[in-house]
Amino acid sequence: MTNLFDGFNLRGLALPNRIAMSAMTRTRATEDDVPTDVMRDYYVQRAAAGLIVTECIQVSDQAHGIIRAPGLHRPDQIAAWRKITDAVHVAGGRIYGQIWHCGRVAHPDMRGGEEPVGPSPIPATGDFFLPTGRVEFPVPRALRIDELPGIVADFAQATRNAREAGFDGVELHGANGYLQDQFLQDGSNHRTDAYGGPIENRARLMLETTQAMIDAWSADRVGVRLSPSSFLYGVDDSNKLATFEFIVRALNAIGVGYLCLLEPNAKDVERGVQIGNVAETFRPMTSVPIIVNTGFDGTKGNAVIAAGHADLVAFGVPFIANPDLVERLRSHVPLNKPDPTTFYGIGSKGYTDYPVLADTVAA
Ligand SMILES: Cc1cc2nc3c(=O)[nH]c(=O)nc-3n(C[C@H](O)[C@H](O)[C@H](O)COP(=O)(O)O)c2cc1C
Repeated sequence: MTNLFDGFNLRGLALPNRIAMSAMTRTRATEDDVPTDVMRDYYVQRAAAGLIVTECIQVSDQAHGIIRAPGLHRPDQIAAWRKITDAVHVAGGRIYGQIWHCGRVAHPDMRGGEEPVGPSPIPATGDFFLPTGRVEFPVPRALRIDELPGIVADFAQATRNAREAGFDGVELHGANGYLQDQFLQDGSNHRTDAYGGPIENRARLMLETTQAMIDAWSADRVGVRLSPSSFLYGVDDSNKLATFEFIVRALNAIGVGYLCLLEPNAKDVERGVQIGNVAETFRPMTSVPIIVNTGFDGTKGNAVIAAGHADLVAFGVPFIANPDLVERLRSHVPLNKPDPTTFYGIGSKGYTDYPVLADTVAA
């Protein structure tokens, strides 16, 4: 029976196992959003993953929503990413860059006073974290329809930049309440133009973005991440099943390289999800490879692959605390415990200093 440790051909990219590292923001870039050497060390440590997907990477200054998150829209950022992708390849790994626009999930105080933008003047819910403390999200400026082609073009350019920077592919962050997700779901999109209203319109920005990324590289090298059961930052939809069925089928028709689907997390379940088993629900609607994520361990990961609901399993937090996660899962060795106080931070503490099995054996 197929399991996590079998290889997989991801549209021409040979993966030695079916364990992906999920995209995770760790805020270790410089203050002006350039990738750093400690980021290189962090990704190299995790090169045994079948596929690494990086933290979200902003495609423009406007897309910038997290302090010390890296960008991919300036030559110095491209050159710094090149050092990382080269090092990951030398270590035997494969790395996709997750590209992203924060939309309304941002605050003017970390953007030189520039207000965040979104489909409609509806603020994100929850608090935003600034060095000075927690603040509420402001009401975003609704994007004019004539601004949208520029945003799509930023994603196309970031895709070309990713290729130049030596990535193996790119993933559109279409999940977790960020710009394309804000347009997709009717709770955050109250527009009355060609990008709002019926699902054909609400899906337009995500589909145009994906198509532009494919045109900039190739369908094989462009994945899309979706979170049909998440309520992050207040993004919600009156009929998630219909909305996500539409987008999954449309992305399948475009022929994206893969879909990364998030299962609901414990908070989502507590709130009451409309779609309980995401991969199982959407798998029959698409023929593209499926990466599933959220709350998996080795046993559940093997089970979801054996059941045929997904081709790969992405692990997030387990990869933070276990650089050698693949080996630990293979050997059924207990995992290190993650320290959430250092998930976001500066420097190597809680980032590149988690022990690997060899250290434990030597100790
Ligand atoms: C510290 C941290 C940062 C994250 N940053 C991102 C991100 O940049 N992009 C993204 O798509 N998901 C992000 N996520 C979500 C993870 O990719 C993943 O979906 C989540 O942790 C659930 O998977 P897990 O149960 O294996 O940890 C982040 C999660 C954590 C814990």
